[in-house]
Amino acid sequence: MFGKIQNYNLKENKLEITFEHNTAFIEIISASIINFFAPLKQANHSSTAIEDIKLQETKFEVKKDDFKLTICTEKLKLNVFDNFKVDIYDIDGNILCEDYRGERAPFVKRGVTPKSLELALKEGHKFNSELGEYKFNVLKKLDDNTFFYGFGEKTGHLNKKGYHYKMWNTDSAAPHVESFEMLYKSIPFFITLKDSKAFGVFLDNTFESHFDMGKENSNYYSFGAVDGNLDYYFIYGPSVKEVIKNYTYLTGRTPLPQLWTLGYQQCRWSYTPEERLMEVAKNFRERDIPCDTLYLDIDYMDGYRVFTWDRDKFNNPKNTLAQLKENGFKVVTIIDPGVKKDKGYKIYDEGIENNYFATDKDGVPYINEVWPGASLYPDFTNSKVRSWWGDNQKIIADYGVSGIWNDMNEPASFKGPLPDDVMFDNDGNKISHKEAHNVYGHYMSKATYEGLKKHTNKRPFVVTRACYAGTQKYSTVWTGDNQSLWEHLRMSLPMLMNLGLSGFAFCGTDVGGFGFDCTPELLSRWIQVGTFTPLFRNHSSIFTRDQEPWAFDKKTEDICRKYIKLRYKLIPYFYDLFWKEQSDGLPIIRPLLVHYEKDLNTYEVNDEFLCGDSILVAPIVEQGKTSRMVYLPEGNDWIDYWTKEYFSGGQFIIKKAPLDLCPVYIKAGSMLPNYPVQNYIGEKIIDELTLNIYLSKNDKSINYVHYQDDGESFDYKNGAYNLYNIEVSKAADSIKLKIDQTKNDYKNHYKGFDFNLFTDLKPSSILANSKPIKFTLSDDTISFNVKNVSEVIIK
Ligand code: GLC
Repeated sequence: MFGKIQNYNLKENKLEITFEHNTAFIEIISASIINFFAPLKQANHSSTAIEDIKLQETKFEVKKDDFKLTICTEKLKLNVFDNFKVDIYDIDGNILCEDYRGERAPFVKRGVTPKSLELALKEGHKFNSELGEYKFNVLKKLDDNTFFYGFGEKTGHLNKKGYHYKMWNTDSAAPHVESFEMLYKSIPFFITLKDSKAFGVFLDNTFESHFDMGKENSNYYSFGAVDGNLDYYFIYGPSVKEVIKNYTYLTGRTPLPQLWTLGYQQCRWSYTPEERLMEVAKNFRERDIPCDTLYLDIDYMDGYRVFTWDRDKFNNPKNTLAQLKENGFKVVTIIDPGVKKDKGYKIYDEGIENNYFATDKDGVPYINEVWPGASLYPDFTNSKVRSWWGDNQKIIADYGVSGIWNDMNEPASFKGPLPDDVMFDNDGNKISHKEAHNVYGHYMSKATYEGLKKHTNKRPFVVTRACYAGTQKYSTVWTGDNQSLWEHLRMSLPMLMNLGLSGFAFCGTDVGGFGFDCTPELLSRWIQVGTFTPLFRNHSSIFTRDQEPWAFDKKTEDICRKYIKLRYKLIPYFYDLFWKEQSDGLPIIRPLLVHYEKDLNTYEVNDEFLCGDSILVAPIVEQGKTSRMVYLPEGNDWIDYWTKEYFSGGQFIIKKAPLDLCPVYIKAGSMLPNYPVQNYIGEKIIDELTLNIYLSKNDKSINYVHYQDDGESFDYKNGAYNLYNIEVSKAADSIKLKIDQTKNDYKNHYKGFDFNLFTDLKPSSILANSKPIKFTLSDDTISFNVKNVSEVIIK
């Protein structure tokens, strides 16, 4: 495709390489991030994911000999050969990523004849796509001890090695299983981990793309797309953490959410009429189960017309929402993209008048079918349409709605897929559906985010089903229509972990399962997982039985209450994680390997996850199970959250887990901030923070930074926040605590701190700023309260 290298030309950070048949570019974004580009479709990059590329100042050298070009940055060495073959080394000369030079050799499949294929298709068998015709396909050498992660929400296991994935946003109501190549989201990004060294590859191409991670043959892996430019980034670590940081440096990070969005959320298709919605709200408060958010699914609308209300079901929506607000509930409404074809309906009329809808190849508005019947698709690739759609959020926000749930934005279509030649404006640079499809949900989320920001001036809460790389800047995501199946609870863990590794820090699944009927046991176990998931939303389909915490029996309700309350205690911990994520890109849910990549045992742990860096969750994800094996990674000691039992890392243990117990371990040497349990966030004025300190037997000190702001506005961007630095240091027979407010620009401050120290030290006195204070000692816990104190000595 490229031929021999002829010459090269360096302009600033960009190397233009002339090959016999084609030109290609290598751009040094930073010492660790390199872009490879060949203008196979258009001359320049056009990226939806990367809005604002910031080149980092970095030194590098370029040399040429008879066979190759060599580029050395401060972290990497690249050898570029004829045919745009590239090998990448770390600066110590270890090979990281090598182009594959051999012949392709698919593993053998026997016995397929045209007749057998015809019959199999008749019976309904499905075949996965392989060996497709791509515009380009990059093949890399694959070694045995290589592991792959990422790709957003793909089904299957944590490690993606041995599978083929397709990027084509797809609405699928069939039970999601591991043979699925695609679902609602397209995140063409993966992380390679080998010998404790990691790098990422981001293929920035919005057309249908394919990733064969050693399925075709285990000697190589490949990625290619059916059209568009060859445009990919090599993103070095060497740690997985650094890869995520660098990837989110390019595509953006999840902005700090409003605090209430971290509370429990209850959804159902559909809480209508109004009386039912109010009944659900009442149940939460009467049953003493915290809840912040109730959702309205499609039936609140008038004939599924977006931005309208069905006044038969909701007589006075403003009033209803105001009453709920009084009681501490926020309401989130669904808004789908499909606009009903209906003359006289404002949104349709405005869209037609201004050419805001996607068209067929002749420029006639394109019509397919979704919930409202014949519907049109707003062309979100057009910035004018985005601001119109954004302004329409005001209609909904003015009723008192607090967040928007964007669904069906793959886009879904009931009358067959949108034809390839449906056209999108793309701000004057027209593109076809083939190029626009995978970014449709992204642009819809962006429009919604920007509209909500403009009209509410609060941090927008948007939830989307479809998206592309980079959508994390605008929206929270959920994994679409799962089902109330144990298999789906199990699979939700690797799905969420891989979403996190792919930049989506704020993600969740439908807790309890969307389709099919949930069982009391499944709901109990799923709520336990949800407690540690950033988006904690219970959702179920109209065709299924009730799934609220009280829907079954007292035992299930008690379990739900216990875990939802635990979640409310942990709210400041989650919020601190989101605060930190803005600078390091690290997700809330993390596979163990993110923190323990030296420990090979962590590479394929599918059924445990870390919530932040301090909490390890090993949930029960199988029916009838009341004990399980837990792997505690090497490098730290671990403390059982429930019993305070101490374990060294690097071992498998058996944990008994009756239905009301989810195995949870706290990293020894960590600190967890806690709030008191509230019915909803903001119910109580929190002027004292609880800090639970889990001392390690080995480490001498712990440092924790806690963040505090108003929890909803953008004032933090102008510095209106507080930071508290809490340091614990251990000597042979004493413990010293330092409390230091290092930033002080938000008006509310904690008046005091409640400390709980889990340790075997039995102190005889505690001095706060040199004065003795009262404390209690129970089991292995020392508890005390301090106000206006900067130093505490426990001895
Ligand atoms: C889709 C969504 C689901 C929603 C339903 C009705 O199936 O994925 O969450 O409840 O549509 O709007």
